[in-house]
Amino acid sequence: MRPLVLFTILICFHCILRKSFCTSEQDKVLSITAATSEQVSLLQNISSHNETVLWQPASPSHITTNTPVHLYIQSSSVTRVTEQLNAHGFSFSVMLDNMQQLIQEQTRNDTTDPKSGGMNNERYHSLEDIYYLVNKTSQEHPDMTKLILIGSSFEKNPLYVLKLSGRRGPVDKAMWMDCGIHAREWISPAFCIWFIKYAITFYKEIPDITTLLDKMDIYILPVMNPDGYKYTWTTNRMWRKNRSVRQGSSCVGVDLNRNFDANWCTVGASSNPCSDIYCGQYPESEPEVQAVTKFLRSHKDSVKLYFSIHSYSQLLLFPYSYTLEQVPNYTELFELVQEASFKIRRHYKNIYRYGSGAKTIYLAPGGSDDWVYDQGITYSFTFELQDRGRYGFLLPPNLINNACNEAFAGVKTIAMRVLEKL
Ligand code: ARG
Ligand code: ZN
Repeated sequence: MRPLVLFTILICFHCILRKSFCTSEQDKVLSITAATSEQVSLLQNISSHNETVLWQPASPSHITTNTPVHLYIQSSSVTRVTEQLNAHGFSFSVMLDNMQQLIQEQTRNDTTDPKSGGMNNERYHSLEDIYYLVNKTSQEHPDMTKLILIGSSFEKNPLYVLKLSGRRGPVDKAMWMDCGIHAREWISPAFCIWFIKYAITFYKEIPDITTLLDKMDIYILPVMNPDGYKYTWTTNRMWRKNRSVRQGSSCVGVDLNRNFDANWCTVGASSNPCSDIYCGQYPESEPEVQAVTKFLRSHKDSVKLYFSIHSYSQLLLFPYSYTLEQVPNYTELFELVQEASFKIRRHYKNIYRYGSGAKTIYLAPGGSDDWVYDQGITYSFTFELQDRGRYGFLLPPNLINNACNEAFAGVKTIAMRVLEKL
């Protein structure tokens, strides 16, 4: 037997034994477009089964005609699903068929030396590496950073916020940025880590980051969902929610971005614990959400600007997502994301669509950005980083740096403008 075949069999056996999700050589991601309402219901049905994972949109209920659906299909079901699609006249194409290779690339040379790799040679970091990096940064730069423990996750992993400040006296303004609400969106924590490195390395070297850190404090939560993130490294790369378990249900996890107290669990969220957009038992039922809301409530007066970082699809969003109604400062927020999108297009040649969440993608209540907005922090944004579907959640490590640079251009453009207004 060829070693590769043996290896694959062993890996699969291991997956079955651990009852985990088995990614294998023949898995595929298809891009499928429904042309009629019959095709929409068929596709909703197909994507609700266990051997598939919906990448885009976040839930079968959001599937509509003429918008490509990105569906991950386990090898054992590829034939059956493609036959079904063909039989019903769907138009579809293969988005990815080298999953195993992409996943291996993403987890390569981990833990051996988390210190290696400068700004141009980024890679994805495991949860342990992220804790190590954040800790080390706070110890090596006590003049610019402070490590704050804001709570812990369901599985008791710590939730650390790193506070970045310029070398100056106290200021009354602050910005917050969280990453990794959704476990599988690896570019998100990678961006928070990149941002921290960039700030420490280029403060007093590059004007943009110097101005930002001189004028305000920046709170960064690199991983809001550590349990889910860890799970994507060890067991199931496609996991989205946290890992909270609940009596009476065998399904695990709550969608943390449906658990905030903002028109909680209405249209666009699900009360089914097995859904990927499950809202939880009540608003703020999850310890990760409680930690963030507690911190933000007690820093409401200083925090003027909020960013939540997700992937993928390249979007710059602002509230509301829980209603189609416009926020009072809609025009102001629209102009901010428009300018940010123009900047990114000019410098990086990449397209970022922009607008309010509900109008730009779908109704999604219980989100952090909407909750923050209703707390009076009216500069509140959700970014969806690279890419637009070429690799989806499996963005190769050599594209991290470019994705982070352009995301930073967006954050910087908005932050600078907001500073002028305050
Ligand atoms: N893709 C994100 C989600 O489904 C979008 C977040 C937009 N904001 C929101 N409050 N839903 O969670
Ligand atoms: Zn997300």
